[in-house]
Amino acid sequence: SRTAVVIPAAGRGVRLGPGAPKALRALNGTPMLIHAVRAMAESRAVSLVVVVAPPDGAPEVKTLLDDHALPERTDFLVVPGGDTRQESVRAGLDALPDGIDIVLVHDAARPLVPVDTVDGVIEAVRDGAGAVVPALPLADTVKQVEPRDAGLPEPVVATPERARLRAVQTPQGFDRALLVRAHESVTENVTDDASMIEQLGEPVVVVPGHEEAFKVTRPLDLVLAEAVLARRRA
Ligand code: CTP
Ligand code: MG
Repeated sequence: SRTAVVIPAAGRGVRLGPGAPKALRALNGTPMLIHAVRAMAESRAVSLVVVVAPPDGAPEVKTLLDDHALPERTDFLVVPGGDTRQESVRAGLDALPDGIDIVLVHDAARPLVPVDTVDGVIEAVRDGAGAVVPALPLADTVKQVEPRDAGLPEPVVATPERARLRAVQTPQGFDRALLVRAHESVTENVTDDASMIEQLGEPVVVVPGHEEAFKVTRPLDLVLAEAVLARRRA
């Protein structure tokens, strides 16, 4: 079986604040996207990486990939993304060649995921799961609220039992045909790919995630990411 990774990298990074699109911002001097691509290409099981670039940024991203040393055994494709993460993933799926039967979807915004986590996801799909997500238990207790305008107190509706909750990461791994079917039939906006599989009524399983697979979302996450890189080099 052949495995490809789709990397949605077309977001603007609004929560990170003003500047270049998030995936192109530097972490210790190297664009976040390059860290993410290397993290995927490090897995010997990955034969193709499809990068979904900002809508008008595909040529720039192609140049970026050419300018950085990447493993020879991995092929790279760059396609332009869309207005939502879902549309961007779809653009990546549309670019996959024949012969790929396992697809991982990995956020460019999770540049530091260790290769063991990537391999764990691939292995679970190879072992027969149609949809696999890496995830971790939560540190915080979570409340469901009735949303109110910013600044107003929000009434609590429920407190789900923390021990049964998981915070979901990427790469998420899929049987290719199943993920394509999900993207063809689910139209609601979702925040991860596995929830589209759930909407089809198909099973999704969780495997262990990793602390270093956290998503770079807000400015403090950049501080943490650069500290993790510094620790790796030490
Ligand atoms: N993404 C994408 N296309 C979009 C929106 C998001 O490919 N139209 C990608 C991002 O580049 C990122 C991943 O989806 O790698 C996860 O999204 P998120 O962390 O929300 O990134 P942004 O959408 O860029 O950030 P923000 O929501 O703060 O603007
Ligand atoms: Mg976003």
